Amino acid sequence: MTAIFAHRGASKYAPENTMPAFELAHKMNADGIETDVQLSKDHVPILIHDETGKRTTDFPGLIKDLTYRQIKELDAGTWFSKQFAGTSIVSLEEFLQWIENKPMRINIELKNNKIDYPHMEAIVFEMVKHFRLLERTTFSSFNERSVKKLVRLSHDMDVAFITSKKIKQLAHYTEQLGANAVHIKYRLLQAKLVDELRQKKLAVRVYTVNKQSLMKKCFQLGSDGIFTDVPDIAVHYHKQFFK
Ligand code: G3P
Ligand code: MG
Repeated sequence: MTAIFAHRGASKYAPENTMPAFELAHKMNADGIETDVQLSKDHVPILIHDETGKRTTDFPGLIKDLTYRQIKELDAGTWFSKQFAGTSIVSLEEFLQWIENKPMRINIELKNNKIDYPHMEAIVFEMVKHFRLLERTTFSSFNERSVKKLVRLSHDMDVAFITSKKIKQLAHYTEQLGANAVHIKYRLLQAKLVDELRQKKLAVRVYTVNKQSLMKKCFQLGSDGIFTDVPDIAVHYHKQFFK
């Protein structure tokens, strides 16, 4: 059955990667939450999609140039709506503390395809391990070197390679990286690809799936998960589809 992951939280309804978006995803009965991690100047993992604060905060510069204390002072809500003014950026630690007593899967996407943060894999891995949440966590990255590093940290954890590009023999490529799942952009989804991945026992999850017609295709082809900004719609449709 296809697991429903709230993409950056329920990001259609609340500012992405913030507590209101995560709370909503939980309320909407999403199976899991996908979130993006970058590192502060003092190496604290924090949840934000972009390398700069330009789009989603009141600070236009690079997030990696700010300390965690400075990051905590930013407003990550007003850009979305006045109703969320003053909403702060969440650290990975705060997020894990919040989710640990909720029966939800976790997907931590390491945003290191533009900035190669040193030791990011180990920092994130150790924190999840500390919370004893490794079993329900998937680590993912667009960065192949980072995927390999994650795999080396522990052989029995769920590691996914993310791609938006058409890669020849994607199943073989993913297997060579040592990952056990692939997260693909919706445009790449085809029955043939799903079969090839299945044969190699690789899980396939699809992003970003907001339209019902696309949800249907994912459910029909048996994708293991979808990432959606509208978990309420996906959960409702999933129930109807599989009843
Ligand atoms: O992890 C799936 C998806 O979130 C990857 O793309 O840009 O939304 O982080 P992006
Ligand atoms: Mg992401």
